[in-house]
Amino acid sequence: MTKNYDVKDLNLAEQGRKRIDWAEKEMPVLRRLRERFEQERPLTGLRLSACLHVTAETANLARTLAAGGADVVLCASNPLSTQDDVAAALVAYDEIPVYAIKGEDNQTYYQHLGAALDHSPHITMDDGADLVTAVLKQRPELIENLIGSTEETTTGVIRLKAMAVDGVLKFPVIAVNDSDTKHLFDNRYGTGQSTLDGIIRATNVLLAGKTFVVGGYGWCARGIANRARGLGANVIVTEVDPVKALEAAMDGFRVMQMAEAAPLADFVCTATGDIKVLDAHHFDVMKNGAIIANSGHFNVEINIPALEAMSVEKRQPRPFVDQYVLKDGRQINLLGEGRLINLASAEGHPSAVMDMSFANQALASEYLRKHQGKLANGVHALPKEVDREIASLKLHAMGIEIDELTAEQAKYLSSWEEGT
Ligand SMILES: NC(=O)c1ccc[n+]([C@@H]2O[C@H](COP(=O)([O-])OP(=O)(O)OC[C@H]3O[C@@H](n4cnc5c(N)ncnc54)[C@H](O)[C@@H]3O)[C@@H](O)[C@H]2O)c1
Repeated sequence: MTKNYDVKDLNLAEQGRKRIDWAEKEMPVLRRLRERFEQERPLTGLRLSACLHVTAETANLARTLAAGGADVVLCASNPLSTQDDVAAALVAYDEIPVYAIKGEDNQTYYQHLGAALDHSPHITMDDGADLVTAVLKQRPELIENLIGSTEETTTGVIRLKAMAVDGVLKFPVIAVNDSDTKHLFDNRYGTGQSTLDGIIRATNVLLAGKTFVVGGYGWCARGIANRARGLGANVIVTEVDPVKALEAAMDGFRVMQMAEAAPLADFVCTATGDIKVLDAHHFDVMKNGAIIANSGHFNVEINIPALEAMSVEKRQPRPFVDQYVLKDGRQINLLGEGRLINLASAEGHPSAVMDMSFANQALASEYLRKHQGKLANGVHALPKEVDREIASLKLHAMGIEIDELTAEQAKYLSSWEEGT
């Protein structure tokens, strides 16, 4: 790549800057961190390659890391999630090299990853572990300089733990997703709202009175199920974990196998991190006109090759809607090519929730720097104090005050003598 960026159109930069500034207003915790980073410059001298969804919120993270002294480059963590105006603004106004174009093909996606790694990073930041995978498989010479990595999402953490088990993870990684102030809020409230937003923007179909099937009842799927119910849909949950299934049932959802739910569904949305949650035998029994989408990390939750093979025609009635016509004439509408629908057809999570996720990312980079050479190879969580600090800052920004333990209460809660 000859130039040190690859974005769709630099003329979009002004619009992108407005979008970034708009998001920043909802990100008070990250703003506080940025002010501290400007003073303390904790990341001075570090090259940092980030592979994240290139959104306005990520731009605010990139600015924060740069304010801390890091030399940042950014590539996309999904071919469909880039906001082209934001990518242009980061290049034009913040001089942060970005390699990301919405709709890029797989080959370009991996070229962009390679360009981010050409930066010879001291820290990599991932959303799905593609960058770390590329380091291990194609660029092992980079490991020598790596202080460590950070990982944003559940699927990435699962992949990293599998690398650790296989003994190939030769540096420490901070599982940002495992912070309470990340998955409890981002995965649940962020994915909940933005997934429904994506489905509605792509289709403009009324949800009230419809049957909406959610694949999974983990953090993301809980959010989706609850928001779909809030819009008046009849929600069915499918699960493989008996505890989660029980929780869904006691939360008031119908719970059944996907084979039973599929023929009832007006909508199916998966968010499991698993493969083929919706498969050929489900397409076989689905209603004409059913709408299917995914909000899990990879586009493997819906078996798209099987759907292609079963179809005689594929149309695009609206952007982000692929209408597959099956041999018997039924139509199944796949949204956003089965990729994270909240980022494909909407704008990803609202800024207020990414405020906490990205505060964790910024603090994770600082933590890696401070503990350079002291962390064992493998996957680590951030200390609980970081969660408490982020939650306190967020509450403060929301104007919420909470009680403090009195000395007597603190003593009581750490003692065992007093009983009935
Ligand atoms: N769309 C987004 O912006 C976004 C945000 C955060 C996480 N994610 C991704 O969403 C996915 C889920 O993340 P999470 O944090 O909710 O994970 P989680 O581990 O909390 O939940 C996943 C759930 O799916 C269930 N499951 C697995 N296989 C299943 C199957 N075949 N059928 C039904 N249920 C099944 C599991 O039992 C579990 O309860 C991951 O891929 C994650 O990376 C997406």
